[in-house]
Amino acid sequence: MLRSALLNVMVAAARKAARNLKRDFGEVEHLQVSLKGPANFVSAADRKAEETLRFELEKARPGYGFLGEEGGLQRGSDETHTWIVDPLDGTTNFLHGIPQFAISIALEREGTIVAGVIYNPVSEELFVAERGKGAFLNDQRIRVAGRRRLADAVIGCGLPHLGRGDLAVFRKEFAMVQDKVAGLRRLGAASLDLAWVAAGRYDAFWERDLSPWDMAAGILMVREAGGYVGDCDGGDAMLSRKSIVCGNETMHRELLGLLQAAGRG
Ligand code: IPD
Ligand code: CA
Ligand code: CA
Repeated sequence: MLRSALLNVMVAAARKAARNLKRDFGEVEHLQVSLKGPANFVSAADRKAEETLRFELEKARPGYGFLGEEGGLQRGSDETHTWIVDPLDGTTNFLHGIPQFAISIALEREGTIVAGVIYNPVSEELFVAERGKGAFLNDQRIRVAGRRRLADAVIGCGLPHLGRGDLAVFRKEFAMVQDKVAGLRRLGAASLDLAWVAAGRYDAFWERDLSPWDMAAGILMVREAGGYVGDCDGGDAMLSRKSIVCGNETMHRELLGLLQAAGRG
């Protein structure tokens, strides 16, 4: 696969930040037993990763805006381009020594996401997509799964965190979906959940209360892998409504139908 200059910039930045994250992940295990625990250490690792990404992306594309989970929105002189970055998606996993976390970088151009990179530093799985050019995992083209029956489907989801999101809504949706599908999973890093839909591992995925940096790269990844993406209300305002449902055309429609039925029940 011949990568564009833009994707090369994004991949190089992700790999650079990943080196430190991977080393820090190795340290977390030792810190588990210390009195203070690893939480402070992890938030420092998270901030450091965002700084590296911002520095590298700014160096390659001066003037672009930057929306990062840690530092919020920093406008650039070029108002048409904004990076949307989660330096560490799957923090709880990272903190617990679970190797399911990623760096997620998207580029928005005039309101449209045009490129996305999602990288798991431990598995070294690199997902990339560019608008109109397909989605790739470690340079191999990926496509969403072809299953058409919910009864055969493995579906990913997100659980509301302690003190966040609406547990009652989630429980209704969960019960509705669980009744109909082969399996449900909750792996804890939304960017990778979306990349896994793109790679055909999950047949579909839904989650509420997500932020733009959790989803931006993944939305493009799923679309470029031939999938359908929308919000949980049947529209396509994922970033502003903070929710997402995706899969192949049939799975997207079926899962959305179940979520809407749960809302009426
Ligand atoms: C979280 C993960 C998780 C999702 C949460 C996100 P973070 O991101 O993507 O899977 O359920 O809603 O906040 O905090 O680990 O970057
Ligand atoms: Ca996140
Ligand atoms: Ca994060």
